[in-house]
Amino acid sequence: MQGIAIMGHGVVGSGVAELFFQNRDRIERGAGEPLELRHVLDLRAFPNLAYSDVFTTQFEDILNDPAVSVVAEVMGGLKPAYDYVKRLLCVGKHVVTSNKELVAAKGAELLGLAREHGVNFLFEASVGGGIPILRPLAQCLAANTITEILGILNGTTNFMLTKMFREGMGFDEALSTAQRLGYAERDPSADVDGHDACRKICILASLAYGRHVYPAQVHTAGIRTIAKTDVLYAAAAGAVIKLIGRTAMQPNGRLQCTVSPMLVTNSSPLATVDDVFNAILVRGDATGDVMFYGRGAGKLPTASAVVADMMDCVKHLHARKTLFWEEGEADYVADWRQQTAALYVRAKAADHEAAFGAVEQAFGCVRPLDYPEAPAHELAFITPAAPRTEQEEKLQSLSTVLEPLNVFPVCGSTGGTESLC
Ligand code: HSE
Repeated sequence: MQGIAIMGHGVVGSGVAELFFQNRDRIERGAGEPLELRHVLDLRAFPNLAYSDVFTTQFEDILNDPAVSVVAEVMGGLKPAYDYVKRLLCVGKHVVTSNKELVAAKGAELLGLAREHGVNFLFEASVGGGIPILRPLAQCLAANTITEILGILNGTTNFMLTKMFREGMGFDEALSTAQRLGYAERDPSADVDGHDACRKICILASLAYGRHVYPAQVHTAGIRTIAKTDVLYAAAAGAVIKLIGRTAMQPNGRLQCTVSPMLVTNSSPLATVDDVFNAILVRGDATGDVMFYGRGAGKLPTASAVVADMMDCVKHLHARKTLFWEEGEADYVADWRQQTAALYVRAKAADHEAAFGAVEQAFGCVRPLDYPEAPAHELAFITPAAPRTEQEEKLQSLSTVLEPLNVFPVCGSTGGTESLC
């Protein structure tokens, strides 16, 4: 018999308890021994549950209970989760978490502590909710050199972009619809400004390449700038716009890691990932492309990954899992402006013809984009692939005829950044 505990009884925490009691026989068989839910930590009272008697407001009840060997941290945020997880690992308890903020900020340190104390720290639910991605990346794909990872990592923004493309909604209407349906928070910044996707690509990059990538090192752009006109120009290019977290290792050992809206051609498998679904495309030198698809959020999908991690901890009480990465370094992530990409550009241009001539002179071959009733004072085009610094300089040189309104990279038909030109 092993004792387990849950810290946090919000959406995910209540899902973990629900799933545990719903599938208890199967879960205990999978874990290899009976399990007892001994504590649920929450400041609120939940008097009418079948397990109301195990609630506590005191973290120490879990920390000091020798019968508890595995703890699920599903509180979210850094405070007090970071302190609690550290203390649990230090007294030899295994910890699993869905908390991407914690793993993205402190993953290397917590993995190091777990190693030092001979326990496991697992966090499958922190990326892609119910989608198995971290374990496949660390184990099934371990023989590959991962050349690139591209992910639709945020369900809320993917839902909003889907509404903008399918139903012609503007950003504000798409956001209020997402809020009404409970996908977006009242303060939607973590989703729409790309911070949530940033944390997830940090975790994927850290795991794939073995060194911690911190959110502050990742150039992050969200979807607030996406206008209806961008949607129509993208459609004219045979593409959609997706918020993409991307990472790739450069030959010089420095990492590319960004979050940005990207133009994704309709032939890419990422283009058909709609609504709140997530997808992560992993490129291995041996496997080629492998795509992981499913529900990236929600009570039971996320609880599914948390409970599976708890089962794995029980099965490996005296063995360590292979999940590990080193602390990061200040110059490990390359300056995003050095990356080569084809760019989608939408710009204000008073004299359309003169501006287009100047654009062609500066960039060479560009692919003009148009749609019926496109604003007369606007110009949209796709540039050839070139380093971002070079592209920025060219756009600067055109500032007398062109005022950029939106600029983001193109993700090619196979998910790369080759030009559509
Ligand atoms: N807000 C997140 C999303 C929840 O929309 O994907 C899961 O991390």
